[in-house]
Amino acid sequence: MALRHFLTLNDLSISELNKLIDRAIELKAMQRQGVIYEPLKNRVLGMIFEKSSTRTRVSFESGMAQFGGSAIFLSSRDTQLGRGEPIEDSARVLSRMVDAVMIRTFEHEKIERFARYSQVPVINALTDDYHPCQLLADMQTFVEHRGSIQGKTVTWIGDGNNMCNSYINAAEIFDFELRVSCPEGYEPDDRLVAECADRVQIIRDPKEAARGAHLIATDVWASMGQEEEQKLRLQSFKQYQVNPEIMSYAASDALFMHCLPAHRGEEVSEDMLDHPTAVVWDEAENRLHAQKALLEFLICNR
Ligand code: CP
Ligand code: NVA
Repeated sequence: MALRHFLTLNDLSISELNKLIDRAIELKAMQRQGVIYEPLKNRVLGMIFEKSSTRTRVSFESGMAQFGGSAIFLSSRDTQLGRGEPIEDSARVLSRMVDAVMIRTFEHEKIERFARYSQVPVINALTDDYHPCQLLADMQTFVEHRGSIQGKTVTWIGDGNNMCNSYINAAEIFDFELRVSCPEGYEPDDRLVAECADRVQIIRDPKEAARGAHLIATDVWASMGQEEEQKLRLQSFKQYQVNPEIMSYAASDALFMHCLPAHRGEEVSEDMLDHPTAVVWDEAENRLHAQKALLEFLICNR
């Protein structure tokens, strides 16, 4: 297989994505049974973090360890990247030493540039525009709880951010209807919305958007890098909290997801993460299994 990257969900075909999800479910079962499976023995993952992380770092690092390999945490604070070494040079050097590179950064263009100069697979672990690894976990979680998402209705309530853009990619690829409910001025990428107009619509009223939905998902109102807008955003988004009342408009078997970390009392009510529809802890755990399936696919070419 030629060198493959995972910068957005579009880098994999629907059949590859479905296989990855099935494999993630299989790897999860093996993990539960205590099976030792080390396809990445002696392999190394470089992990570049220019933003904070709990789930992403721990899931990639644990995944590599469980697979018999290892991971190196690289923060821009302590590497030459933070002192202005060009991304192209860093890509050429690092990719001669490790077997795959995972990057969490700001501008999406930066990870594209890294990938162009890399000899090994590059994985997007969140940029300002996309968070495809989270979508692998979300899709796995939906399949585990409800089966195929094809033909279902998903409602995104809140900011049209990186997660929302990745949900738009998912709607197109996995073939579900996506309703985005956000305040004016906080829409997802308009080019993406226009391209996927057959699958995506913006519905301002969150209750109307939630009506009959099979999955409701949300995320923080101010993402990493938008800390200064936090106060203004609290005002703009106050009608867009996901709470049990909003969930009562959804289908009777609806699920609730949040990529976490959550701000209780803001985008979710205090009780929402403990609501019977919430599957957020499974969703968080599935980051581990879905990314193990992704690493196996990209590094072992299977
Ligand atoms: N959901 C997610 O990516 O979490 P972290 O920021 O903790 O990695
Ligand atoms: N939209 C959030 C997701 C965090 C996992 C952010 O970019 O900060």
